[in-house]
Amino acid sequence: MYKQATVYFTSGTGNSFRAAAWFAEEAKARGLSTRVIPLDAARPAEEIGRDQNELVGIVTPTHGFIAPWNVLKFAFALPRRPGVPAFALATQGCMKVGPVFIPGLSASATFIVALLMFLRGFSVRGVFSLDMPVNWIALHSGLKPSNVEAIIARARPRLAAFAARVLAGNPYWWTAGNVITFLLGLLLLPISLLYMAMGRFFLAKIFFANPKCNGCEICARNCPVGAIIMRGKKNPRPFWTYKCESCMRCMGFCPEKAVEAGHSWAALLIYLTMLPFAFYFLKWLGGYIPGVRSLDNPLGQNLLQLIYTYLSLFLSYYLFFALIRVPLINKLFTYTTLTHLYRRYHEPGTRLKDLNPEKNK
Ligand SMILES: Cc1cc2nc3c(=O)[nH]c(=O)nc-3n(C[C@H](O)[C@H](O)[C@H](O)COP(=O)(O)O)c2cc1C
Repeated sequence: MYKQATVYFTSGTGNSFRAAAWFAEEAKARGLSTRVIPLDAARPAEEIGRDQNELVGIVTPTHGFIAPWNVLKFAFALPRRPGVPAFALATQGCMKVGPVFIPGLSASATFIVALLMFLRGFSVRGVFSLDMPVNWIALHSGLKPSNVEAIIARARPRLAAFAARVLAGNPYWWTAGNVITFLLGLLLLPISLLYMAMGRFFLAKIFFANPKCNGCEICARNCPVGAIIMRGKKNPRPFWTYKCESCMRCMGFCPEKAVEAGHSWAALLIYLTMLPFAFYFLKWLGGYIPGVRSLDNPLGQNLLQLIYTYLSLFLSYYLFFALIRVPLINKLFTYTTLTHLYRRYHEPGTRLKDLNPEKNK
């Protein structure tokens, strides 16, 4: 049916890379030549979907019930390719409790990527959501190795069934899974938008390096969106910028287990930037601004609250970074975050070299 399959992927902890690699294996077994390319290493436009013999796929993790920004930007900036066949696949976070698999929910992740590809002229043949081990290790401990193994073993044949359909040229839209996921995606869109607006300004700004960090730069070198820079001349330490997608690669692959998400810092941050302190501070401040004099002017108050929240979040991270350079304070934050106790996760067969071949030759 096709001569070539090119699968673009982005992946924090390897699940989406694994899914992309499995798809390529299936394509290869059918005689196609294949390429599996990280989004951040994608070459100029002329390489993408050169003709209608080439099937183009985008594989992404789900973040906040939608695809991460870097994937949306990539899909939005695709060259026009009228009629070039394509598919979108999202991995979603599955858990296992006893014998029961609890599925993830990709919601709008695949559909929005498919829509963007369609708008660039691609002939999108289908979308698919694949349960892989949940990887949000800033929030929860990594799954037990036996559960990881079971979830991955269950995912492989599911991916193969999807690949068989698409590679045979058949559409893959009207499955019960896709219909339910689409409807839930519409319902959860406000949460996705909130996540997109807040994720990088809050969730991504609680990462820090604990005392085990030796400044090796592996996290900075391998960040898929170049969000981590090393700061400090004598003892360089990672600093997370606003580009961070919270993909968990730095946490999942740090050989020293030195990357933490500061839970106590997050609580403090909420208190300082959003909750009581902010409320009283703004009430006081609003009294001095004409038109925002009282809480009877909700628009003015809300606007002020928004500006205050973003500005204080912005400044807070610089303060946090300065504080954690003091060894005693670093220890305080290290021992008051649950991530210090959490198991880390990355897809067991995936190495940094697979995710970032150019920087790990
Ligand atoms: C910040 C973040 C948000 C997530 N949001 C969702 C979600 O909304 N729905 C879901 O099913 N899984 C969610 N997950 C889990 C991942 O999508 C899932 O584990 C995925 O397979 C990770 O792929 P990767 O290893 O290629 O990054 C989230 C993970 C992270 C880190």
